[in-house]
Amino acid sequence: MSASPLIIDGRAVSARILSECKTRAARLAAERGRPPGLAVVLVGDDPASRAYVRSKDRTCRELGFHSVKHELPATISQTELLDIVARLNADPQVDGILVQSPLPKPLDESAVVHAIDPTKDVDGFHPVNVAKLALGDESGFVPCTPLGCQRLLVESGTPISGAHVVVLGRSLIVGKSLALLLMQKGAAADATVTVAHSRSRDLPALCRSADIVVAAIGRAHFVRAEHVREGATVIDVGINRIDDPADPRGYRLVGDVAYDEVAPRCRAITPVPGGVGPMTIAMLMSNTLKAFEQRP
Ligand code: GUN
Repeated sequence: MSASPLIIDGRAVSARILSECKTRAARLAAERGRPPGLAVVLVGDDPASRAYVRSKDRTCRELGFHSVKHELPATISQTELLDIVARLNADPQVDGILVQSPLPKPLDESAVVHAIDPTKDVDGFHPVNVAKLALGDESGFVPCTPLGCQRLLVESGTPISGAHVVVLGRSLIVGKSLALLLMQKGAAADATVTVAHSRSRDLPALCRSADIVVAAIGRAHFVRAEHVREGATVIDVGINRIDDPADPRGYRLVGDVAYDEVAPRCRAITPVPGGVGPMTIAMLMSNTLKAFEQRP
């Protein structure tokens, strides 16, 4: 295999999708007499969550969406939080609702997700939307990170139909949902999917049997050259902090893939940062437009 794989540029793909969303939003807003609306709820002061929420709010404004931002103290009660969700469910200007995860203890995240109107659940975490994905009902919402992974596979020209995909990680937000998405019938799907995790036997051999490896385990540099066969496509969902005294911040962000040793074996690979990360916000905006379009 050549030593120069296709490096999949998630920033460029995300920028293109966001630009398409802006055009669609303007057209729909003119038809409906109001713009699409997204509400983002942040509880507590986790710096990473705060940064995500700020970037979602900024993107909404850039695209001409109506943006509602609730920044709530970690001391808020479960009842007060559920009350805010109920008001957003009833708000006719709000098409999508996202409650930033994780919630501080002792708040019950599952109860909050269950309380979101499934037709506004642009995260795709509500059981109705999980069931729709499993059933192949395309009216539901698919979580943003798996949608972003699928889109990058398409953009990289990697064949998905008939391919063996090994997904490392079984979280609902990424691994399990991506497996359901890629095993569906239809375009950009029809894959043979194996979901592997920390208890799976002989991961290197299993991964070497894959045409596509998706790493979503949250362990820095876990996927090594021995996991990847020549010519495979590798999608790295991981974002891990590792100490780096040479960096002014004292740390840097790396993926779940040991990029330097894996990339030369690949047909195509996503970098970290600049791969899957920028895609999630593009898919969130796209899901919000879908919610707006489906609203009667
Ligand atoms: N925290 C990290 N990623 C996500 C996401 O996609 N949705 C929500 N709600 N919280 C997150």
